[in-house]
Amino acid sequence: MEANKIRSKFLKFFENRGHKIISSASLIPENDPSVLFTTAGMQQFKPYYTNSQNADKDFGSRNITTVQKCVRTGDIEEVGDATHLTFFEMLGNFSFGGYGRREAIAYAHDFIAQELGLEISYVTFYKGNDNVPRDEDSRKIWQELGVKNIREDGNDVFWGPTGNSGPCGPTTEIYCKNEAGEDVEIWNIVFNEYFCNGSREKLDKGEASLEKLDVLGVDTGMGFERLLATVQKKKNVYETDLFNNEKTKEERIVADHVKASLFMISDGVTPSNTGAGYVLRRLIRRAVRFSKQPLAQEIEKIKKIYKGVYILDDKGGIEEEENKFRQTLQHSLKEFEKGVDPFILATTYGFPIELTQELAKEKGRNIDLADFHKKMAEHQKLSQTSSAGMFKGGLANHNEKTIKLHTAHHLLLAGLKAIVDKNIKQRGSNITEERLRMDFLCGRKLTDEEKKKVEDWVNDKIKEGLNVVCREMPLSEAEKIGAEMEFGTKYPDIVSLYFIEEPAKDGSGKNGNVISKEFCAGPHVSNTKELGHFRITKEETSSQGVRRIKAILE
Ligand code: SER
Repeated sequence: MEANKIRSKFLKFFENRGHKIISSASLIPENDPSVLFTTAGMQQFKPYYTNSQNADKDFGSRNITTVQKCVRTGDIEEVGDATHLTFFEMLGNFSFGGYGRREAIAYAHDFIAQELGLEISYVTFYKGNDNVPRDEDSRKIWQELGVKNIREDGNDVFWGPTGNSGPCGPTTEIYCKNEAGEDVEIWNIVFNEYFCNGSREKLDKGEASLEKLDVLGVDTGMGFERLLATVQKKKNVYETDLFNNEKTKEERIVADHVKASLFMISDGVTPSNTGAGYVLRRLIRRAVRFSKQPLAQEIEKIKKIYKGVYILDDKGGIEEEENKFRQTLQHSLKEFEKGVDPFILATTYGFPIELTQELAKEKGRNIDLADFHKKMAEHQKLSQTSSAGMFKGGLANHNEKTIKLHTAHHLLLAGLKAIVDKNIKQRGSNITEERLRMDFLCGRKLTDEEKKKVEDWVNDKIKEGLNVVCREMPLSEAEKIGAEMEFGTKYPDIVSLYFIEEPAKDGSGKNGNVISKEFCAGPHVSNTKELGHFRITKEETSSQGVRRIKAILE
């Protein structure tokens, strides 16, 4: 069965069972500037797990089904094996209080066993821990459905939260055998029963707690390419009709990376030195390194595969980046052989540090990463003003108005922390040309006096004319200095942070006190005095434990 047929079969199956079909969200999350890419189907629906009645309002249904475009770059070095890809599609069904375990498991079972005629190799269920009970219900449901091989599992089958807080819960997974006889995880069915007020790391360390959600949420995800390989009885994803039967690791890397790049550019990313743009640049440059032919041929093949399914247009962006890099590639490979400093390779030849690391690994050589990052941070400081205009990918649509509101958004979070509670965490954001909207963790309504104080605080910072600067640094360093991060779990090794800083009191022209530091792809104004007057127009409840502020610049 071809890919196109399975996509529609899946959506139809769930539509027939009371689900509303929603289109794939953009690869760049629209309401969350702190996340680089959409990594799962549930991402566009995250707020509905804590605020299920909004699903009725927004979709006219609590049950949704999608085929979502996703990018995950965490496993980039595994690309080329049988299953790992940076771009993939995820088939999913979601429910915000519409149904529970029994329906979710029975749907998945019917789709896999009856609609696709696949044999389930085994399924898993959560064995429980001190805070979460063993998922006996899921085990029983599978047993009643006649599945023989039911295995209990631990931490691996508790999913989420993504980022610094969010819905999470036990999962049950379906494994099927592939053509090579290996068991492959096909479907992950998550029961969002809890809201975690900290990151997954904190939860695992016992530093975050779980609160039961009002309604049980369902979030399922099935990796489409893996499923296809199984249905089409292929040994790997490259033999399915979403690829062109690439055989060598190099050909596979090119096919995957060009595909991911084409989808990213079609969703508005452009190559740059930071955030999503940097990931795109890395993918294109890595593809160039492994490709003997111009990437144009690969682009055409990919467009043909997805014709009528997705609109793909790279507007010449890949070729431009390719040309830039091909000119220096041979030269930089020679320089690498001579042992030239990775910092020089990156800044003079545009050779991404990750590629240098990969080359070094191939040749059994060591490189001094700490030294590289130190030099890079210095370099960034010097060039920050000149590169400030280059960033894309943080704000989905940016123009003068949204950029100003974006900076005001950072100031608002800092103001809430300064006036209301230093532990306040952001939960979501959305910026239009007219206003900003911020959701944040807070168990109570703000008083009128607090709102006024926050407003005054932000307006003071605007009047003070603070500098807004972007710095890139290793993720570990950014975490160490306690920069605000949110939602997305996987940040790249080098992240960009935006600082809002007072000028130093000594008049040296350097920066003094840091007012705000956030993980962010930008863009921002370069000085707060550009913003005008800040006003909070609304403060309301968003969902359990979450408040929502809307504010404008006038
Ligand atoms: N959120 C889960 C995953 O990404 C299921 O969709 O696997």
